[in-house]
Amino acid sequence: MTTTALPTARPIPGTGPVDTSPIALTPAAGADLDPIWQAVIVETRTRGNDIHLPISLAYAERLCNAFPEADRLLVRVSIQLHDTGWGRVDESRILSEGFTGDWRKAAIRYEHEKQGCIIAREVLPPLGYDEQFVEQVCAIIDGHDTRPEAYTLEDALVRDADRLWRFDHAGIALASGWFGMDPAIYTDRLEAEIIPELITQPAIAMATTDLDRSRALLKTAVIR
Ligand SMILES: [Fe+2]
Ligand SMILES: [Fe+2]
Repeated sequence: MTTTALPTARPIPGTGPVDTSPIALTPAAGADLDPIWQAVIVETRTRGNDIHLPISLAYAERLCNAFPEADRLLVRVSIQLHDTGWGRVDESRILSEGFTGDWRKAAIRYEHEKQGCIIAREVLPPLGYDEQFVEQVCAIIDGHDTRPEAYTLEDALVRDADRLWRFDHAGIALASGWFGMDPAIYTDRLEAEIIPELITQPAIAMATTDLDRSRALLKTAVIR
């Protein structure tokens, strides 16, 4: 299968079912990606990747259900590996440069994308993934944070899944600390800044439902 052309409508309406239930109810299914997980265990121990990546994979699978025309394997493997590059950059610089100021343009952001591609090219071929597939994965990983535009539908679904995990209470618990924010301020930021960045309508539906649920759970209206 090849990549799917990116529709021009914004947000992109889904063509399949949209599940907005708590993400813990639908963990990523199947064991076909387990050999990849096992190959990147070391890289998942940095920057909360062992929380971020599996939760984002579960969201990515929901997005693939909402867009059955997308190449499901390409989306799943790309989201699984997209941030592994954090495991090979200077850890002390991750929070000092990667999450402050104009963090999207910080040099360390480009480095984690580049390292993620190196890891994909190391890990995937021995597991039987062909060169064309590996290069499609790298095309998504390269620039996933720093390139303003998504190139394909698969690229767009990875970008949305990369953001959606933040709306679950586990994502809020972890990522609010990276930005030095309390949960109330952080969830306000999710609403004001991250929801407008979402590319697809199903992702917006999941994000807004999760945000309401997380705010109620964490009592952010009171504890602020
Ligand atoms: Fe990233
Ligand atoms: Fe990410």
